[in-house]
Amino acid sequence: MANRRVEKGVKRGPRFEIEVDGENLVAYQGETVAAVLLAAGKRTFRRTAKRHEPRGMYCGIGLCHECLMVINGVPNTKACQTLATPGCRVETQKWRRNGPNTSPRKQV
Ligand code: FES
Repeated sequence: MANRRVEKGVKRGPRFEIEVDGENLVAYQGETVAAVLLAAGKRTFRRTAKRHEPRGMYCGIGLCHECLMVINGVPNTKACQTLATPGCRVETQKWRRNGPNTSPRKQV
């Protein structure tokens, strides 16, 4: 797993793991979900509804909505504004006809 965190001169809080699309990623207390993903080299946070194009963090301050993910089962959650917590479950948001991350079988 890639680690793109600055190490020298940084004192971090307790270490824990979060699950992102079935993969465990290292997180530290006080980091946002977006920070954890970027530190692990993950750039795609969601896919667009029509063309399924990848999108990731853009503004980092909660304004652009490019970082929407399914976090702890809640779709349309801004990864840049959500603190990572131990046991947090995160999914890349993929749009389907009935909404984000719905099963194709549930479509009407
Ligand atoms: S990166 Fe813009 S709202 Fe999260």
